[in-house]
Amino acid sequence: MSDLADSLQQLQTDALAELAAAADAGAVEALRASLFGRSGRLTFLLRGLGETDPGERPAVGKLANEVRAAVEGAINERLATLRAVDAGARLADETLDMTAPGRPVRVGHLHPTMAVERDFREIFHAFGFEIFEGPEIETDAMNFEALNIPPDHPSRDLWDTLYVAEPGADPRQPAADGTILRTHTSPVQVRAMRALTPPIRAITPGRCFRYEAVDASHGFEFFQVEGLVVDRDTSLADLKGMLEEFARALYGDGTKTRFRPGYYPFTEPSVAFDIGCLVCGGPGCPACGRSGWMTILGAGMVHPSVLRAGGIDPDEFQGYAFGTGLDRITLLRYGIPDLRLLMSADLRFLEQFPGGR
Ligand code: PHE
Repeated sequence: MSDLADSLQQLQTDALAELAAAADAGAVEALRASLFGRSGRLTFLLRGLGETDPGERPAVGKLANEVRAAVEGAINERLATLRAVDAGARLADETLDMTAPGRPVRVGHLHPTMAVERDFREIFHAFGFEIFEGPEIETDAMNFEALNIPPDHPSRDLWDTLYVAEPGADPRQPAADGTILRTHTSPVQVRAMRALTPPIRAITPGRCFRYEAVDASHGFEFFQVEGLVVDRDTSLADLKGMLEEFARALYGDGTKTRFRPGYYPFTEPSVAFDIGCLVCGGPGCPACGRSGWMTILGAGMVHPSVLRAGGIDPDEFQGYAFGTGLDRITLLRYGIPDLRLLMSADLRFLEQFPGGR
């Protein structure tokens, strides 16, 4: 046999002897590295395999594998023994008081906005709606054009948009590829229509963004829930009934509601949906602009062009949609005076709302 075979056998003998002498897991790991590491002894020998006589190469290769397996096996076995001994010694050393009280586990809770979102999910789940979520980063085509809002249409002014720009570019200017942060959850209507087959009943909660000056009632980042129903013979009466049921589920049986005409490019007709002021209950106060009513959402019958953008034939199906902001509903529910607190991540604030889990 070749020199290489001799060296391999010698290496195995040496390695096993060194292993027997290794006193702890650290020494065993060091030995492993000195054998199998990049400049380890076995690694070095294996590099010589290419130069052995071709006739002998299969036999030497087989021997090399056996040496490697034997040494590795012995190392792993040794480590297991050392660990067992360690654990045994620890058990003997330490005492365990089974009667000691447990350490309290700090359990978090839902953010107040997410607690409200959870309520929306539950209420609409009971009405047979599924959850359908869409991306926060959208295209102009989905956020506007698919929603019947052409480029340069004046109704774009209803949504001050944050554009996703190249580093250094002006974020108020559209990027060439039309990437934006979605200004509402309405594009998810179109995504849902494309992905699902009618009859569709879906709600789409999620974060939205607008180019807004931040103050007590405006944020550049907020949460909406969109609802979409597409079916044969769906009508404004269905929308009205659904929203009235929803308001009673969220605010209780006696909740007063009303519909007013509204305008959105993606619904026709469009409505605004109001509930009786949650602060004064009717007579008028600063919170409701002395009107006695609070607008909680926008809604309407899905515009035929939007149905078409979603791949649905408006002669066959109709739909209604509604969209609402979760943040204001949260402020009203908990009597929080300033929207900025919701995004503050301040535990002194958040810990006052331990409601949702
Ligand atoms: N997307 C609208 C907004 O952000 C709300 C809306 C949704 C209105 C669905 C009608 C139908 O203001």
